[in-house]
Amino acid sequence: MKAKFKNPRAKHDFRGRPCSITGVGSYVPERILTNAELEKMVETSDEWITSRTGIKERRIAASNEFTSDLAANAAERAMKMAGVTADHIDLIIVATLTPDMPFPSTACLVQRKIGAARAAAFDIEAACSGFIYALEIGQQFILSRSYETVLVIGAEKLSSIVNWKDRNTCVLFGDGAGAAILQHRENSHGLLTAVMGADGNKADLLSMPGGGSACPATAKSVADGLHFLRMDGKETFKNAVNAMVSAANEAMRRCDVDITKIKCVIPHQANQRIIDAVGERLKATPEQLFVNLHKYGNTSAASVAIALDEAVAAGKVSRGDLILLVVFGAGLTWGAAVIEW
Ligand code: UT7
Repeated sequence: MKAKFKNPRAKHDFRGRPCSITGVGSYVPERILTNAELEKMVETSDEWITSRTGIKERRIAASNEFTSDLAANAAERAMKMAGVTADHIDLIIVATLTPDMPFPSTACLVQRKIGAARAAAFDIEAACSGFIYALEIGQQFILSRSYETVLVIGAEKLSSIVNWKDRNTCVLFGDGAGAAILQHRENSHGLLTAVMGADGNKADLLSMPGGGSACPATAKSVADGLHFLRMDGKETFKNAVNAMVSAANEAMRRCDVDITKIKCVIPHQANQRIIDAVGERLKATPEQLFVNLHKYGNTSAASVAIALDEAVAAGKVSRGDLILLVVFGAGLTWGAAVIEW
């Protein structure tokens, strides 16, 4: 009988051991911002937002609720599912483009909040692709036997960098966090492969120019709106579809599986039209594609992390099923991962 899939790690990984996701969790703030409310804030309509993006509402964090709070809540849920306590955690990686502050890292603030005193902690920034980048980084520590338990989080408070007067962007984004516990589990192949890619030549398509060393905060930079996210939507859209399709195909090729072997495809939740185009080109059925974009909008690094948690909670995947995650974001960055659940 032909094997269900090929494990691309097997041939070159002599010391490696498989890395599984043993727990997932997510958290979104309570406050719901609907399209009807946005109609009162900018020149837009529920009809435009729904037909152009598929988004109906998004969550907005309270003024005293930060990325690290969302992340810590998601982490605690993932730890509960995995049956681990804070003292088990060896490493915390937070993927975010909206850290609480430039430093210390949000991962260190999460470490304090969840009481994971033994854990090393750092942030990574790969925009909306961050969760797959963080999964791939995290799994290297399990493969190499350096660590037993790694906590990976995608978390964003995008409402803090959105220009609420710019209808081109403010209708698209929301706040939230998703987390995963990575461990070796007997008799599971876990994360089979992760593809990561980037194209810095297209860095200007989606960026926040202010607040870094190139443009520190000044009264002028604030007045000029340089601390808000900006995006060339049309160009970003085109690049997203192409990059997501080729990353997904590469990840499946490495595992010697085709789309019919994948139980659940979890794409970055940025736009229903992008999800449909990617699904069509991958020949995924609507039943395979997991979508929660209508409830949360684009939550960047948290997007596929929240969706993975919800897909598991909804019973869309059982242990042993294959999941395809596929992401795209600023940088430009992209990625895809095949996971045996
Ligand atoms: O997560 C990282 C990756 N991000 C993405 O993948 C996002 C990719 N881009 C997109 O999802 C889409 O390009 C958008 C949803 C951002 C925009 O959709 P579009 O079909 O590309 O619209 P457009 O930018 O070409 O704008 C069409 C029209 C424009 O008016 P004119 O110039 O034709 O008169 C816009 O001003 O729609 C107008 N418009 C709006 N109208 C009502 C833009 N935003 C709005 C709005 N309400 N909120």
